[in-house]
Amino acid sequence: MLADRNAYVPGSEIRKIYNMVIGRTDVFDMTVGLPDFDTPQHIKEAAKKAIDEGYTKYTHNAGLIEVREAFAQKIKRDNGIDADPVTELMCTSGGMGALVLANMVIVNPGDEVIYPDPGFVSHYAHIKLAQGVPVSIQLKKKSRFSFTAEELERAITEKTKMLVINSPNNPTGGIIPSKEMKRIAEVCIDHDIYVLADEAYEKFRYGTEKPLFIGSLPGMKERTVSLFSLSKTYAMTGWRIGACVGPREVIAAMTKLQEHIVAMPTSVSQKAAEAAVIGPQSCVDDMLKTFKKRRDIITKGLSAIEGVELDPPSGAFYAFPDVSAYGMKSYDLVLKLLKETSVVTVHGSAFGKFGEGFLRLCYAVSTERIEEALSRLDTFLPTLLRNAV
Ligand SMILES: Cc1ncc(COP(=O)(O)O)c(C=O)c1O
Repeated sequence: MLADRNAYVPGSEIRKIYNMVIGRTDVFDMTVGLPDFDTPQHIKEAAKKAIDEGYTKYTHNAGLIEVREAFAQKIKRDNGIDADPVTELMCTSGGMGALVLANMVIVNPGDEVIYPDPGFVSHYAHIKLAQGVPVSIQLKKKSRFSFTAEELERAITEKTKMLVINSPNNPTGGIIPSKEMKRIAEVCIDHDIYVLADEAYEKFRYGTEKPLFIGSLPGMKERTVSLFSLSKTYAMTGWRIGACVGPREVIAAMTKLQEHIVAMPTSVSQKAAEAAVIGPQSCVDDMLKTFKKRRDIITKGLSAIEGVELDPPSGAFYAFPDVSAYGMKSYDLVLKLLKETSVVTVHGSAFGKFGEGFLRLCYAVSTERIEEALSRLDTFLPTLLRNAV
């Protein structure tokens, strides 16, 4: 009796694993991308103040103007993108809110959308929801989970409407180098396609290369929707707040659609976001230092395990080791690890067909938990090789 889209829009495979262990305190949960930090105090204070001052009502569908102005300031400062807060920027319910709206207003049924595989599970789901045709572009381990302008060009047809970019990438941590990003932008201009730039992990970079945002490149502003999420950067996953910038006709259409779906993101979260993006940024720097340490620990620990191959992830907060040496489907390995070690990971195939043979471990958990999980994996995983002999 339900509509067909229930069948063709898949559920999240991450949640499938997460829901198996939710509420259990006896496991080492490394599934969902949920920073273990609390939202910084000054952001929480701003939200409390907002409640007391009466920011408890509907706002403009694109968000309060002062909040849009704060985001415009942040996006210019951090991302090098100039956006008019009145016509080219809107607040959304997290990055997810922007992703789904952008797909709905840009993609017609039958339009092809190129997306990274392995990639964030909702990218595929949103393309399907908009009745687009998902066309995957493989992020290969040997290319450090980036892709080239030539690979993009080969995936483009006359039906291509949009490219989804997510750099740093979830689940691989891959970052598209600046030089390649510029070449990718040129291909998008040549073929006149839109870009949906998912900048959810914009701050989580561990290399020395200066970040370059595709929406800031010449000729890209008029074809790029860049979305920014506060979830990971400020440990605000539950606040459901983010913002996006894009061509004015796209932002106008997204704002119109947002009205019919959530009206606007929660007013209190908007005020909290204002404090987050224009307030002191030292809280972000501190969190990032911790993430860098954890990334080093998990990389060293995992790559020392017999059968595991892992290069240091360039960004985000996930390790995506190659575990194909164990000769099992990644889903079966996840279940085995849960049973034998209580370490909860996500199968690479949850992130697309090119994720098979890998596991994702989220290291946004305490160093002690990472170390204990590593020790359990180190004890157990090599036994699989010996049993296979
Ligand atoms: C790549 C990517 N984009 C977007 C999101 C959505 O984030 P939120 O809606 O919490 O801002 C996530 C969440 O995990 C993600 O990993």
